[in-house]
Amino acid sequence: MSGDAMFEARELSRHYSTGGGFLRALDGVSFKIFKGETLGVVGESGCGKTTCGRTLIGLYGKTGGSALYCDADVHTLAGEEKRRFKKEVQMVFQDAYSALDPRMTAGDIVSEGPDIHGLTRTRAERAERAVRYLELVGLGGEHLGRYAHEFSGGQRQRVGIARALAVEPQFILLDEPISALDVSIQAQIINLLMDLQKRLGLTYMFIAHDLSVVRLVSDRIAVMYLGSVVELASSAEIYYNALHPYTRALYASVPIPDPELEMRRRADVIGDAADPGLRPESGCKFAPRCKYADGVCRRDAPPLIESDEGHFIACHYPIQNIGAAPGEREMKF
Ligand SMILES: Nc1ncnc2c1ncn2[C@@H]1O[C@H](COP(=O)(O)OP(=O)(O)OP(=O)(O)O)[C@@H](O)[C@H]1O
Ligand SMILES: [Mg+2]
Repeated sequence: MSGDAMFEARELSRHYSTGGGFLRALDGVSFKIFKGETLGVVGESGCGKTTCGRTLIGLYGKTGGSALYCDADVHTLAGEEKRRFKKEVQMVFQDAYSALDPRMTAGDIVSEGPDIHGLTRTRAERAERAVRYLELVGLGGEHLGRYAHEFSGGQRQRVGIARALAVEPQFILLDEPISALDVSIQAQIINLLMDLQKRLGLTYMFIAHDLSVVRLVSDRIAVMYLGSVVELASSAEIYYNALHPYTRALYASVPIPDPELEMRRRADVIGDAADPGLRPESGCKFAPRCKYADGVCRRDAPPLIESDEGHFIACHYPIQNIGAAPGEREMKF
């Protein structure tokens, strides 16, 4: 892997206390995000994607490990460094309806960041900058005085993107930015985000539960399961050479039009992770749902190791020969 790490998570954790004990929402994850790339994060609802993203950018406190931005610990930033971080690192939310104050105009929403960071001096400059960023996301300047509640879902998400861009960030955490939108609008927003990334040299962390979307936009993908990263590799590797049984199971929920590919990636049929009985206290967290699990898996949690260059996996028995029919797969013992 080439390039400099912009973000790095080192054994990063965030636990919540619950009635009887604690929930390891983020359980010691380690990964890097390189400048200019999109790291996709995928996994079922509740696996800790949002917790991972928000803890990485310091929006949530951590309970262990560390999150680094350009080698600085994001949870202890102060003064000028913190101010710069807050400008360089932005976020776009899933639900633009609740993320944008309905009583604010698009102009005020987009200007909020520049106001905080003192990027404009006069009212004219402020309006001009807001129009520039609204135009950048495909909304005309005539939208400047319109209130957030007057926009459609897609337009509102565009305003949310303009707001993030208006402070000239380096990095944007995109947390399910299209999940709440009509399918017909989703592709437009994806295209916009990819175009903006190219034009502005942005780095993205793109969270989604749908692998087919993540695959389209990401250079690399981290697959999360119950607070852990279980596989991390390039998009192509994750698509053509997934080694973790859970990653393969995720593909089972994505309809593949090609029957041959569909057959090859046939589901490892699994149950529901929300079932507390399927959150084991020891061993591999996926073991209760994995048809390959044995005593070793139930006893020892597999660490995330680099099995091939740039391909990380946490599994005692990574699936081999992905191209073979399921019955012919060899297992590595
Ligand atoms: N404030 C909180 N207190 C207790 N538990 C929490 C809190 N916030 C999140 N959790 C739990 O942490 C786990 C991870 O939640 P998180 O929102 O990060 O998952 P997610 O992968 O983003 O899910 P989704 O796809 O639904 O957005 C879940 O089990 C969730 O219930
Ligand atoms: Mg989430």
